[in-house]
Amino acid sequence: MNHVPVAIIGAGPAGLTLAHLLHLQGIESVVFESRTRQAVEETVRAGILEQGTLNLMRETGVGERMEREADHDEAIDIAINGENIRIPLTELTGHKVAIYPQHEYLKDFIAKRISDGGELLFETTVDSVENYQGDGPATITYTDADGTTHQLSADYVVAADGSSSPSRSLVTADGGIRARHEYPYAWFGILVEAPKTQKELIYATHPEGFALISTRTDTVQRYYLQCDPEDTPDMWPDDRIWEQLHLRADSPGITVSEGKIFDKAVLRFRSAVTEPMQKGRLFLAGDAAHTVPPTGAKGLNLAVADVSVLAPGLTRAIKRNDTGLLDDYSKLAVPRIWKAQHFSFWMSSMLHAVPGEDHFATQRRFAELRSVLDSEAGQRYLAEQYVGRDLPRFDY
Ligand code: DHB
Repeated sequence: MNHVPVAIIGAGPAGLTLAHLLHLQGIESVVFESRTRQAVEETVRAGILEQGTLNLMRETGVGERMEREADHDEAIDIAINGENIRIPLTELTGHKVAIYPQHEYLKDFIAKRISDGGELLFETTVDSVENYQGDGPATITYTDADGTTHQLSADYVVAADGSSSPSRSLVTADGGIRARHEYPYAWFGILVEAPKTQKELIYATHPEGFALISTRTDTVQRYYLQCDPEDTPDMWPDDRIWEQLHLRADSPGITVSEGKIFDKAVLRFRSAVTEPMQKGRLFLAGDAAHTVPPTGAKGLNLAVADVSVLAPGLTRAIKRNDTGLLDDYSKLAVPRIWKAQHFSFWMSSMLHAVPGEDHFATQRRFAELRSVLDSEAGQRYLAEQYVGRDLPRFDY
């Protein structure tokens, strides 16, 4: 049986970032990904990199294209029922965010992994993870793109295979917790051939619900509208989309720019946190462990924070036989996850209309937002959470 120090299941932000960080320490890994490279590189996801995430890209030699192509924003706008309020993120926190979609982040890490000679197996499904609780290495059984089944032994296994990770139940069996929250709304997301409405993002709320004006390039824009979780794209003809975007997000001097809509999809809203995130030699990272609703785009950044603990933890364990940091992984990662969970929940609840909400509920929501935004301390608090805290830093 072949052996590898670290087996990583999933070529998403957590898995690819971890493989790269380990490589920089001279530690080999294999990344298993059930989808094709094209599917990974084309799946449309959110688009904000916190300061810590973009610093990590820069510092580890993967930031060149992001630096060149991303929009680096120093502010966001929040529009409350047609009144637009600017939050100067950089003035308040000293930090910026980058608008750089997740699939572009993945393309950069995939290209780097390949040019570094890393093992990245697409269309390869992990069938089982066994022996992860013993003193010896774990055993991975997997089926490759040709349908051939293999086994590999690994000192450590990291499941970074998204919110339906089959490995999660191995970690939560006997006493683990999976805390969940469902929301009574979802997002209808579109891609549009249009010029930018303005440089910075607009998070808009209205008695009829939320809208987000985001961007992809100078000629492609990303817009979202609050919708019902059961809605389907055929319930949103173009006329209805434009009517609702203008109603919810236009404000004096700002009109949402229109164009040809070429992608429509409904995005689910869920929160979930798994505790602990490890059992024996098996570790969960990213969405395999936790899911946040999209408001604020914390998902990728949280995945990067997880592996900022795992990478030095695994390195110390493998190089120096010191498992202290690895043993503390859940204890170190979970508080940050709950804070991001809270921020995403809080922003979502201020900006979205609960279906059927009455005048009292709408005006209370607006008053909560205005109370935050009318205060410098409130704005700074929101800005700090939005740009994110620095990533955890540990010596290797
Ligand atoms: C985007 C998504 C988000 O959830 C968000 O808060 C900001 C931007 C986006 O896809 O562009």
